[in-house]
Amino acid sequence: IKNLFLVRHAESEYNVRDMVGGNSNLTDKGRKQAWALSRHFIGTPLPYIFTSSLTRTLEMAEPLLETRKGQTTHHAFPEFDEIDVGECDGMSYAEIERTRPDLFAARTRNKYNFVYPGGEGYATMAGRVYRGVKKALYLSGNSEHIMIIGHQAVNRMILSDFLFRRAEDVPYIFIPQDKYFHIVSTQTKKLFELRKF
Ligand code: G3H
Repeated sequence: IKNLFLVRHAESEYNVRDMVGGNSNLTDKGRKQAWALSRHFIGTPLPYIFTSSLTRTLEMAEPLLETRKGQTTHHAFPEFDEIDVGECDGMSYAEIERTRPDLFAARTRNKYNFVYPGGEGYATMAGRVYRGVKKALYLSGNSEHIMIIGHQAVNRMILSDFLFRRAEDVPYIFIPQDKYFHIVSTQTKKLFELRKF
């Protein structure tokens, strides 16, 4: 049995400004949510925690790692970094719509296959995200609990691998910032639960 706890980073500075890309920090509210996550998992063994290489997931993991010194191995994988938005880095959705209406319309028409100029799309990031999952499963060996702290697009891709969603629905899967997916995976079945922390 494998228990995968799939967490998204809590509220970041860019989230509140509706901006994409960048490498922003968590807000004060986000940091409180990170502590709530850590408190929620008291009593659950977490020998492995995987994050992306971006600050907001590292900050999300901080309270967990601080309260579990020596009991948790942390790996930061660039494979779990948020979708690379290329030329739109640091822009808000409203700004993209205003200054790059062509891009905005193309993405709205076909979000899964759309690729940001100079960056990625859902379809083109799939390979590296799944590579990250494989690496995480390999490194965590027989351990029954692993946690991945990722990003909205990344977690959508990871979930879709387990959920067998149609590709065009994947970019719309709801990934909250105050809840996590608990995925229990056995040889024969997979169970999903969305839980508040
Ligand atoms: O750009 C980062 C977002 O978290 C991805 O969300 O694909 O719905 O724009 P979106």
